[in-house]
Amino acid sequence: MKKTMLRGGLLAGLCLVFVWGCQRAEEPEVSYSEDVRPILEKNCVECHVEGAAGYEASGFSMASYEDLMEGTKFGSVIKPEDSFTSALIMLVEGRADPSIQMPHGKEPLTEEEIATLKTWVDQGAKNN
Ligand code: HEC
Repeated sequence: MKKTMLRGGLLAGLCLVFVWGCQRAEEPEVSYSEDVRPILEKNCVECHVEGAAGYEASGFSMASYEDLMEGTKFGSVIKPEDSFTSALIMLVEGRADPSIQMPHGKEPLTEEEIATLKTWVDQGAKNN
């Protein structure tokens, strides 16, 4: 009797681990270097390095991961695990004032690009 219960418990435990593993697997980890960096290079970096307009106006450089995480002269624009309140995400989604949507004066990012950035932030904005 006791043995059966123990086995039942073990099985239930294994199932839980299995289900948890599967759910995690549904959303693959977004990589900074492979997924996020190319989006920034294509749409943002030209204005956000020392000497360029975006950097001069806000102090926000995206030259490196460290610069990106440091944010503007007023502080960070990425809150790891919280894309909703991350200023960078608000700007690319046009949730801030439309006059300061990013990229500045250009086509907005595609939904897919925005989703990639959001997932990366929600997964901790890691340098992976
Ligand atoms: C054509 C130039 C240009 C491009 C491209 C650009 N920016 Fe900007 N960015 C600016 C300027 C100029 C500012 C200063 C704010 C203003 O005056 O609107 C700024 C400011 C910012 C700020 C700070 C806003 C604040 O709170 O002060 C963030 C964050 C930002 N940009 C993110 C991005 C991201 C992310 C991209 C790419 C998706 C991007 N920018 C692309 C020009 C640009």
